[in-house]
Amino acid sequence: MNTQEASFRLAAVVVAAGSGTRMGTNFPKQYALIEGKTMLEHSVSALLEEPRIEQLVIVISPSDLIGQQLKFTDPRVKIARVGGASRADSIRNGITYSGLSANDWVLTHDAARPCVKASDVAKLIDYCLKTDEGGILAVPVSDTIKQQNAAGKIGKTIPRDKLWAAQTPQCFKVGPLTKALSNTEAVVTDEASAMEASGFKPALIEGSSTNFKVTRPADLALARAVFRARAAGEDI
Ligand code: CTP
Ligand code: MG
Repeated sequence: MNTQEASFRLAAVVVAAGSGTRMGTNFPKQYALIEGKTMLEHSVSALLEEPRIEQLVIVISPSDLIGQQLKFTDPRVKIARVGGASRADSIRNGITYSGLSANDWVLTHDAARPCVKASDVAKLIDYCLKTDEGGILAVPVSDTIKQQNAAGKIGKTIPRDKLWAAQTPQCFKVGPLTKALSNTEAVVTDEASAMEASGFKPALIEGSSTNFKVTRPADLALARAVFRARAAGEDI
């Protein structure tokens, strides 16, 4: 669908206002280098491959001196110094900054997922725009999942056949998402949880296991390995 002709707009909000505590570096992890570019730049480049994204808002912390100096040549990119105390606050502020209307669509993405594939982003957008339903990229869980009991031992095994690990991007219509984010009192770690709490059943669009969130030092090493493998021609 050509959004130029459509009656709605599609924008992306990339949240990069965290401090990366679990990474343990003395600078926010989104500025760690992978093959010569920051993690944030890789995340943004992958989304910019999608022509239907009209605007891309990068949310950084107001106190972030590195982010405000980054230069992006693509005119769709706006750097918004509106990061909040939680990821959900950063998302909310980014959506407000974008100026999108209730009938528009927003694609929310973690700067900490630099290995996202443009083809998976396109698949998610295709699905949401075609069905008029919100959805997220996710992958079926491949490990056997254990829930611990009060003693810290295995309380039970959760059958994994219907379990998925949620990723970003997540794609929702702005009106319902904004309402859901302002209605939820519980701590939500993704937009889909807020939509679920409002009674929606977002779609699961199968993505790629390489779109993991870079959280700890080992994840950064793996992300670097993914980019090296891609440079060597591997389709991962
Ligand atoms: N994020 C944000 N604003 C916050 C917290 C997180 O924009 N107040 C962003 C992060 O920059 C990241 C994404 O949300 O791109 C996912 O969060 P997470 O992986 O938890 O990153 P951090 O919060 O930076 O890391 P940590 O929890 O280890 O401190
Ligand atoms: Mg965090």
